Amino acid sequence: MKIKTSEIVMSAVSPKQYPEGILPEIAFVGRSNVGKSSTINTLLCRKKLARISSSPGKTRTINFYLINEEFYLVDLPGYGYAKVSKDERASWGKIIETYLSTRSNLHEVILLVDIRHQPTKDDQLMYDWIKHYGFGRIVVATKSDKISRSQTHKQFKVIREKLKMAPEDIILPISSLKKEGIDQLWGALTNFFIQ
Ligand code: GTP
Ligand code: MG
Repeated sequence: MKIKTSEIVMSAVSPKQYPEGILPEIAFVGRSNVGKSSTINTLLCRKKLARISSSPGKTRTINFYLINEEFYLVDLPGYGYAKVSKDERASWGKIIETYLSTRSNLHEVILLVDIRHQPTKDDQLMYDWIKHYGFGRIVVATKSDKISRSQTHKQFKVIREKLKMAPEDIILPISSLKKEGIDQLWGALTNFFIQ
């Protein structure tokens, strides 16, 4: 994918703030700190477009990044972060749920999981939920620099089984640190959703 332009268009918390128009959107979901914002930066060859942090709970709004004036990558707040208040967690949950369940521009939702860990109960629920809406054909396993190549296949099996992924669904490793897996992810996105 040749990135000619990438810009943040909106940080939204409610539907009236979503961008107008009919351009397709691809959203990234996953636990807090799994690497959603980093993955978006890496895909776009930008260091600081999406803000990242070593402490979970960095992204608190729905951020719409317009690419080549043709489609959006959408960064969402993470779930499963224990250290925010119950009220705040409920409010993030509502923000994510409203977007995912009502947004007609949505073409795909990509679940990100940490390659080192078993998907959590929240990951399983999220994957079931996005599958129910017809998404979830790509799962991204983040931080692939943290394990060896031989461990990768073992972890893929664990992730596939835990999430009950269908054989045709694909799982792709990505390392924002080493900039690995980017072409493969763009390839999958281009094949499936972007003309
Ligand atoms: P929230 O916005 O809190 O939901 O988190 P997020 O999923 O957007 O995660 P973010 O991109 O902010 O990254 C969290 C931490 O993981 C940061 O310290 C990143 O530097 C680190 N990180 C992200 N991707 C990678 C990776 O591929 N490899 C390594 N080693 N670290 C990574
Ligand atoms: Mg983030």
